[in-house]
Amino acid sequence: MTIRKIAQIGHPVLREPTREVTPDELRSAEMQRFIDDLVETMRDASGAGLAANQVYEPVRMCAIEVVDNPRYPYKPRIPLTVLVNPVLEPVSDETFDNYEGCLSVPNLRGVVPRHVEVRVRALDRHGEPIDRVVRGISAGTFQHECDHLDGKVFLDRVRDTRTLCTWAEFDRFHREPFVERVRALVARYGE
Ligand code: NI
Repeated sequence: MTIRKIAQIGHPVLREPTREVTPDELRSAEMQRFIDDLVETMRDASGAGLAANQVYEPVRMCAIEVVDNPRYPYKPRIPLTVLVNPVLEPVSDETFDNYEGCLSVPNLRGVVPRHVEVRVRALDRHGEPIDRVVRGISAGTFQHECDHLDGKVFLDRVRDTRTLCTWAEFDRFHREPFVERVRALVARYGE
């Protein structure tokens, strides 16, 4: 496995919509090795998720995992999930304010409205269908990663640029009220 370089904001690969993966491609040894690299790179960078185009492969695929993440200690666990050709659909119009950051946007966080419940349809890395509803703070993570695959970054969805902050200032001024909001969401949805 190889730890890949992560594209940084300003690189065009983050701004192009990705292309779908064909069943033959997904079965190939090359693509399976790429998926291993994607997961390994996400873990190495302590990311909650990583989209393929963030490591310069413009294919519609992302990995998500939250397991005792030091970057996000308040997040509920998400077991390793690889989404191939994902499609998200909001289940309701209700949104919550998520404080987001991104491995492709160094040292910046901001508030982004996200749907509290989304239906996720995709294939897993073996080509088996995934069809489930993700709720609460975890739903925000899925929306963030799928945005990448459409060539969007979280900054595009920040409505109030006054919420932008560095990690240090997030910890000083914004972490506590945000964690309170997250606790309320987790209490409601358990995820
Ligand atoms: Ni990101």
